[in-house]
Formats: sequence, structure tokens, C-alpha cells
Amino acid sequence: MIGCDNFNDYYTPTLKNNRANKLKTLGIEVINCDIQNIHLIHKQFEQETFTHLVHLAAQAGVRYSLTHPQVYSDSNLSGFLQILETCRHFPPLKLIFASSSSVYGGNTKIPFSETDETENPVSLYAATKKSGELLAKSYHNLYQIPMTGLRFFTVYGPWGRPDMAYYSFAERMLKDLPLPLFNQGKMKRDFTYIDDIIQGTAAAIDYCHGFEIYNLGNNHAEELMTLIHLLEENLGKKAKLDFQPMQQGDVVETFADITKAHKNLGFTPQISLAEGIPRFIEWFNTMQGAFI
Ligand SMILES: NC(=O)c1ccc[n+]([C@@H]2O[C@H](COP(=O)([O-])OP(=O)(O)OC[C@H]3O[C@@H](n4cnc5c(N)ncnc54)[C@H](O)[C@@H]3O)[C@@H](O)[C@H]2O)c1
Repeated sequence: MIGCDNFNDYYTPTLKNNRANKLKTLGIEVINCDIQNIHLIHKQFEQETFTHLVHLAAQAGVRYSLTHPQVYSDSNLSGFLQILETCRHFPPLKLIFASSSSVYGGNTKIPFSETDETENPVSLYAATKKSGELLAKSYHNLYQIPMTGLRFFTVYGPWGRPDMAYYSFAERMLKDLPLPLFNQGKMKRDFTYIDDIIQGTAAAIDYCHGFEIYNLGNNHAEELMTLIHLLEENLGKKAKLDFQPMQQGDVVETFADITKAHKNLGFTPQISLAEGIPRFIEWFNTMQGAFI
């Protein structure tokens, strides 16, 4: 098994290097390579037959896409095309790829189901993730490559992304900095613990037939204030709140209907937000300061 990451500095590469080092201890080497130039590691595909390609690399983040649009096109469109070309040229590769709950845009029908409309993205990030699904579908139709797209819902936990609210709020609270709460804090998210996402992704690897899209969420829309109270409890600190207006590109609520993933993948999330935040904080405390 090999991995590929370009170790870009959207957030600290030290965290990415530490993850790669941890994977190395499990026998997975992460090669420093941009997926736009993935042909540089095609010799690995020539030497060994790989059965699955799990494509998680992307430029993530809704707010950053307002200020850095080009990198979303580079990684999420051009880069994804190179992943599809790799699948085309190295059969019998099957593709499992990360999409996002953001494809549901400002839909108000709750919970979000895979059959709901996804034609109305409210951020460029969302548009590139939806485009990825369409690019994939065209390669499936043309070359019959088995593919599964996974729409992840607000993934959190140890080794997660420092720009996400749960992580950046914990850092700000330790420094006694105020937490920016957009839409005056009236937001809801379907927070999904990393171990549940891993279980769902592993099941998608085992069961990759035809072309399918699945929601992987926790099936609970939690108030942002619930997250803040859990962080306060587990850090033993009171948060300072800075209420702000709604941000461009954001959505008020995400909530996954996971009926399809449950039926076909046996996906059954186990970890509630109340259980997951203490697990994250335990890791965060051991790593404190290491990635800043
Ligand atoms: N974390 C979430 O809540 C969430 C929600 C929905 C969808 N997703 C999707 O899940 C996937 C993983 O997200 P994450 O939160 O772990 O983000 P992440 O930024 O931590 O991981 C993505 C990795 O891809 C690498 N990368 C970016 N562009 C690359 C390129 N051109 N070539 C090679 N490597 C590149 C980055 O360095 C990073 O290590 C992404 O596709 C993201 O869009 C995540």
C-alpha cells in the first residue's frame, strides 16, 4: 500500500509529516507527489498490481476558496482528472473518492439524501466537489471503472484539520482568544467522528460496484453551541464568544440521511459528539503546541 501527498502549507506540514511518519510505522509509505503530476509515481503502478485507489487529496475549506480559487481548480479538478486517468490506465483499479456534504448547498430539506438536488453550490469548494462526482461518472460511463463517491459530513477527531472549527476553537480557547461564531452561532453540523468515517470508507473499499454515491455522516445535526460547551467541559476553560454575521459560502445546517450507506455498506456510526470531543481533546492535549 502506498500513499501520496504534496504536503502543501494550507495548514502546517509538520502535522502532515507526523501523520506520514505514523503511517510508515504501519507499513504505508507516503510519497511526496502532487496528484496533478501523479504520473511521477506511475512506475509504482507498473511494478505492482493495485486493486483500489482511495482518493482523499483535495484542497478543502469553504472560506479559503473565496480567496484562493485557483488552487481548488488545480487540486480538485485537474488533480482529480489525473486520478481518473490513472484508474483508466491501470486496471483493475477501483476508485473510492471523497466528496462532501457541501454539494447539498443551501438545501433546506433535512436530512440530506443522495437523491436530493445538488445543482446549487454556495461555494467554489462545493462546486469542485460536485464537479469531481461528475468527472468520475463520465469515466465510469466511458471505461466502466467501478467507483464509489463518499460525501463526508464534518469529520473530526485526532490528527484532524486545524482549520476546522472544533480544532481551531480548542487552540483559541487555550490562548484565551475569542471564538468567531458565524450566523450569530446559529449553525448546525452533522459532526462525524474519524473512526466512523474510517469504518465507512473501509466498507466502501470492500463493496465497490458500479457507480455509487453515499452520505457518510453521523445522522445528528448538532448545534454549534453544543460543540462549544463540550470543548469548555473537556478543556476546563470558558470560551469567549464573538458573534458574527453569516459568512459567504457557508451553510446553516448539515444533516446526513445515511439510510443508503447503512443498507449497502453496513455503515452504523458509533461515536456521538459527546464521546468524540473528549477523545479529540485527549489527543490534542498530548500534541499541544507541536503543530503550531
Ligand atoms: N474533514 C471534513 O470534514 C471533510 C468533509 C467533507 C469532505 N472532505 C473531503 O475529505 C478529503 C480529506 O479531507 P481532510 O479534511 O482530511 O483534508 P486535509 O487537507 O487534511 O487532507 C487532504 C490532503 O491532501 C493533500 N493535498 C491537497 N492537494 C493535493 C495535491 N494537489 N496533490 C497531492 N496531495 C494534495 C493535502 O496536503 C492534505 O494532506 C478531501 O477530499 C475533502 O474534500 C472532508
